[in-house]
Amino acid sequence: MTTPPKHLQPEIEAKIDALLSQMTLLEKVGQLTQLGASIVGGFDFTAFMENPDPELLKDIQRDFHEDWIKEGAVGSYLGVQGADEINRLQKIAIEESRLGIPLIFGLDVIHGYRTIFPIPLAEACSWEPELARQTAEIAAREAAAAGLHWTFAPMVDIARDARWGRIAEGSGEDPFLGSAFAAARVRGFQGDNLADPQHLAACAKHYIGYGGALAGRDYNTVEMALQTLYEIYLPPFAAAVEAGVATFMSAFNDLNGVPTTANRFTLTDILRGQLGFRGFVVSDSNSIGELVTHGYAADRKDAGQKALQAGVDMDMVTESYRWGIPELVETGELPLEVVDEAVRRVLRVKFLLGLFDHPYRSDAKMESATQLRADHLEIAREAARRAIVLLKNEQGILPLKENIQKIAVIGPLADSAFDMLGSWSFTGSYKNAVTILAGIKAATEAEVLYASGCETNAQQPEDFSAAWEIANQADVVVAVMGESARMSGEAASRLELGLPGNQEALLKALKATGKPLVVILSNGRPLAVPWVAQNADALLETWQLGLQAGPAVADVLFGAYNPSGKLAATFPYAVGQTPIYYNHPNTGRPAGDFWFTSKYIDGPVTPLYPFGFGLSYTTFAYADLDVEVDAAKITIRANVTNTGGLSGEEVVQLYLADPVASRVRPVKELKGFQKILLAPGETRKVTFELTHSSLGFYDAELRYVVEPGQFKVWMGPNSAEGLESEFWISRELLLG
Ligand code: NOJ
Repeated sequence: MTTPPKHLQPEIEAKIDALLSQMTLLEKVGQLTQLGASIVGGFDFTAFMENPDPELLKDIQRDFHEDWIKEGAVGSYLGVQGADEINRLQKIAIEESRLGIPLIFGLDVIHGYRTIFPIPLAEACSWEPELARQTAEIAAREAAAAGLHWTFAPMVDIARDARWGRIAEGSGEDPFLGSAFAAARVRGFQGDNLADPQHLAACAKHYIGYGGALAGRDYNTVEMALQTLYEIYLPPFAAAVEAGVATFMSAFNDLNGVPTTANRFTLTDILRGQLGFRGFVVSDSNSIGELVTHGYAADRKDAGQKALQAGVDMDMVTESYRWGIPELVETGELPLEVVDEAVRRVLRVKFLLGLFDHPYRSDAKMESATQLRADHLEIAREAARRAIVLLKNEQGILPLKENIQKIAVIGPLADSAFDMLGSWSFTGSYKNAVTILAGIKAATEAEVLYASGCETNAQQPEDFSAAWEIANQADVVVAVMGESARMSGEAASRLELGLPGNQEALLKALKATGKPLVVILSNGRPLAVPWVAQNADALLETWQLGLQAGPAVADVLFGAYNPSGKLAATFPYAVGQTPIYYNHPNTGRPAGDFWFTSKYIDGPVTPLYPFGFGLSYTTFAYADLDVEVDAAKITIRANVTNTGGLSGEEVVQLYLADPVASRVRPVKELKGFQKILLAPGETRKVTFELTHSSLGFYDAELRYVVEPGQFKVWMGPNSAEGLESEFWISRELLLG
């Protein structure tokens, strides 16, 4: 087994020494340079965005600067696809460059390569990291078969603000849940052995604080206490290091005034010094060049120097290292050792990937045999149905009963294959996606009527008559509403969090028919939809579920699968509440009836749906919470019973609070979860064990401390409900 980069291997370090001693400065800088191909010829991107037919991508003419490969002046490519093309470029590096150092090829394989899985936020709602490990492993298998070595995933940014479109790409708002998913995805992408040609090097991104963008606007300023950085934003990155992640990506944002792409404190002191990371850091796309725009560097050369000295080893597409570093070294402004150390880190990952021995890790035959395999699609369906969160189910209207004869499926997202894929799915094709309408039709003998009803985001009033007509004929209306794929992801922040365009107006018209109304949401972020929550008879959050969206939704709708997802991010009641998250600190005036409290005068302070919330077709009861404290650990137990008539899974959640501390602490924090399957009537004792050190926090001097005293504990079905107890930890106990 190849040990992950956290631990050095002397034989690899010796090989790196030998190479370094032969390399010219240009060759060294080449290893730190990642190019994206420049597009030549007249490819019409606007037309492609309007009709995203993957066939059109074949027409792109690219220039890879092959002369750079021969000179040894490039070490990596971003965005090259296909085993043949990758092998062709690799061959130039191996056979025509002086030292024959292999190139590393990276791409954004975020939630699948050809087999597109649910968006990461959706997967997190399964609360099953093992499932995410499996989908990452399949993504790696397909992408590696297509010649790739490296994915720019997982995205492990904590996101507490639903306006930020990139909330779709991560695991939501919680550091504990986020860490579990970060580690699982790293393991899935990388496997046990980076040299295994069925896996990829992973990349924890975007380091760091990117999700804290002010006002939820992408790329925006980030200001936060360092304690918040350590307690909330850092843990998933630390978990990725712990899981052996090979690379990191620095971010676009500044953090308290210092861009994260030139931040020595975060990139070197924390990442290398405190977390012990031994892989390499790549910048985000042009984030080195943007140091100039930030007003942190004077020009591209200055930017390159600042990024490299801070700890960014590889420059993604700015070419700042290539054009600035040699001169800086020659004039003595930059020590050669800084360059050598960065080259060492890049070469280390190339050695761990086995690229020196096996530079061609796949071929076209293996590539085509590996894509969209039946077993991959099966997992895609499983992952998709487990990502669905049941938010409301009045009178048990779901699952739909067998006596239903006519179903009106209405809504702009009901038959939209492209939108099922979500953002970062350009390697897949919507042509392979099964829409929700198709899924429903395939799963029922009832007559299925369909009208789109409105566009996703129309700016003018629309005619709802076709939808109205079929709704009136049907026994039940299933309305599929939400966001198009392009409304979340990078650079897709929103001002409003309601249903876009005329969708809510259409829902109101459908409600007026008096027919039972089942609303299926498909979107990339939490939405503020109080009218829907109040008026729908049933509400299913299905996110963007990938290729198998249709079958997965149908499984839940008709009861082949009992929904088990729980929200990984809080749903605000109104956009004005954002950022809203369950683990907020205490205030001196918590919201209450008294006027002078922390509340709004025009709406609730509580969310529409809290973090961790999700229903099932069965019901669960919690009883007998019991806490035991000893010198080694705290043991918390409760009995969970399936009190309904169907077998079902419950995500049992454990929360903790430290009510009196030397710093104001969150009202509660997730400290554990277990997903259990219970037959009707079955009771299970669920046990959590916590170490004393898991009760700590960063004090005013940034020291991690556990303070003795009282702690509160909850075990329950979500962050707002559950059995409550307390326990005490004495100073003597902590001192052992
Ligand atoms: C910019 C994005 O921020 C990042 O997530 C991605 O990996 C790079 N572009 C490369 O595509």
